Amino acid sequence: MKQTIAKGLFDILPYLDEGDFRYTHYYRYVEEIIHQVAFLYQYSEIRTPVFEKTEVFARSVGTTSDIVTKEMYTFEDKGKRSLSLRPEGTASVIRSFVEKSLDQRSKNNKLYYISPMFRYERPQKGRYRQHHQFGVEAIGNGSAEQDVEVIDLLLTLYEKLGLKNLNLMINTVGDKESRDSFRKEFVSYLIPLKEKLSEDSKVRLEKNPLRILDSKDKQDQELLKNAPLLQEHLTSSAKENFEELKALLKSFSIPFVVNNNLVRGLDYYNKTVFEVTAEALGAHISIGGGGRYDGLISTFGGPDLPAIGFGTGIERIIQTMIAQEAPFPEEKGPKYFFIPLEKEAKTFCFSLVHELRKKGISCEIDLKAKKIKNSLQQANTLKAESVVIIGSEELKKKVAVIKNMNTREQIEVPFDKLIETMEK
Ligand code: HAM
Repeated sequence: MKQTIAKGLFDILPYLDEGDFRYTHYYRYVEEIIHQVAFLYQYSEIRTPVFEKTEVFARSVGTTSDIVTKEMYTFEDKGKRSLSLRPEGTASVIRSFVEKSLDQRSKNNKLYYISPMFRYERPQKGRYRQHHQFGVEAIGNGSAEQDVEVIDLLLTLYEKLGLKNLNLMINTVGDKESRDSFRKEFVSYLIPLKEKLSEDSKVRLEKNPLRILDSKDKQDQELLKNAPLLQEHLTSSAKENFEELKALLKSFSIPFVVNNNLVRGLDYYNKTVFEVTAEALGAHISIGGGGRYDGLISTFGGPDLPAIGFGTGIERIIQTMIAQEAPFPEEKGPKYFFIPLEKEAKTFCFSLVHELRKKGISCEIDLKAKKIKNSLQQANTLKAESVVIIGSEELKKKVAVIKNMNTREQIEVPFDKLIETMEK
C-alpha cells in the first residue's frame, strides 16, 4: 500500500502546479527577501531546536491559551521527559536568550528566525499542522520607536514581495496594572451574562477573561458592545506609549486602524499588539502579528528587559502573493544541458560536465539520452540556457553543437575549444 502524508501536512516540491503555493522556488525566494530585509534592519539570525521541554511553551504562551491547551504536539521521550514540538518561536528564543545570557553579548539583541512550527489545528486553506514562520524578537528596548521599527520591518517585507491591500491593526493591552484593574470590572460585567456567552467564552471567563474580547462568536460580540473598555483602564505610562506609537506611525505615513478588541491569543503580550491582514485571504485571516511582551524574560529567570516581536506565516504570504498576482522571479536553470547521443559521446560529455562543474558552471547531462526530441524537452523543463549536442557525426568531426535555447542560435565548436568557449 502507498504510504500517505499525515493530516494537515504537505510536501514542498521542486515542481510548479499552477496556482499552488507548495513550490520550493517560491519558499526560497521569500526566504531570500526575508534575509535581505533582516539585514537591512540589522537583525541577526538565531536557530533553536524544533522541540523544547513542554514547560518552555506552557509557561510563556500561557497554560490557558488555545495553543497550549489544544494545539501542542506533546510527547514523552524514552527518559519520560515531556517535550513539545515548537508551536511558535518567541518562547524558544527567550529560553535561549536567558540560558545563553545574550544580554551580556549585546545591549540590544535583535534576533530573527525562519522555522517550521507545529499546531494541532483543524486544517483549512491557510491553516496547517506544520507551517513556516518568519519571526523577529527585539529584546532590550521598550520605546515606541522600537515598536515602529518592528512594524515597519514587517511592512517593508510585504512591500518588497509585492503585497497589496494590507490592513495594519494596532491596539494596546496595557501593562499588568491596567489589565488587573480592567479585568475586575470586565468580569463583574460578564458574570450576570455568563449563560448567554459561548461555551469557549464561559471557560475563558474563569481562566483568561481578556481573551473573550477577540471572540469570533456573534452573540459574544453583541454582549461585548456595552462592556467596559480596557482603554479606560490604561495607566498613564501605557497610554503614553500607545499615543507615541500612533504619532510615530503617522509621521512615517504608515496607515493603521486601532482595533480595541485585538488582544491576540498568546498570554505573554502587554502594551502594543498588532496584526496585519490581507484582503486576498479574507479579512479575518492574519498574515502576520505580534506585540510587546515586557514581563516574559524575567519569568524565564532572566533580567527584567522589555521586548517586542512578530511572526508571519510564509504559506500565507505566498498564498496572498499568488492571489494578488505579485511577481515571482523565474527559476534559473543550468547554463548547459548536455545531450550525448552515443555511448562514446556520453563518456566524453560526462567528463566535460565534471570539469565545468569544478569550474563553477552549472550543467546537467541526459545520461539516458535516446531521442533528441525528448532530451530537448527535458532541457526546456529545466530551463537550460543552452544545450550541447554530440552524436556520431559530431564525434567524427570532433565538434559539439551548442544551441542557445532562447535565441535558437546554433554554433559548432571544435572539441579543443569547448571549455574555453563555454567558460565565457
Ligand atoms: P501567531 O499570530 O500565533 O503569533 O502566528 C504568527 C503567524 O503565523 C500568523 O499570523 C500566521 O500568518 C501564521 N500561522 C499561525 N498558525 C498557522 C497555521 N496553523 N497555519 C499557517 N500559518 C499559521 C505567534 O506565533 C507569535 N510568536 C508572534 C510573536 C513573535 N509575537 C511576539 N513575537
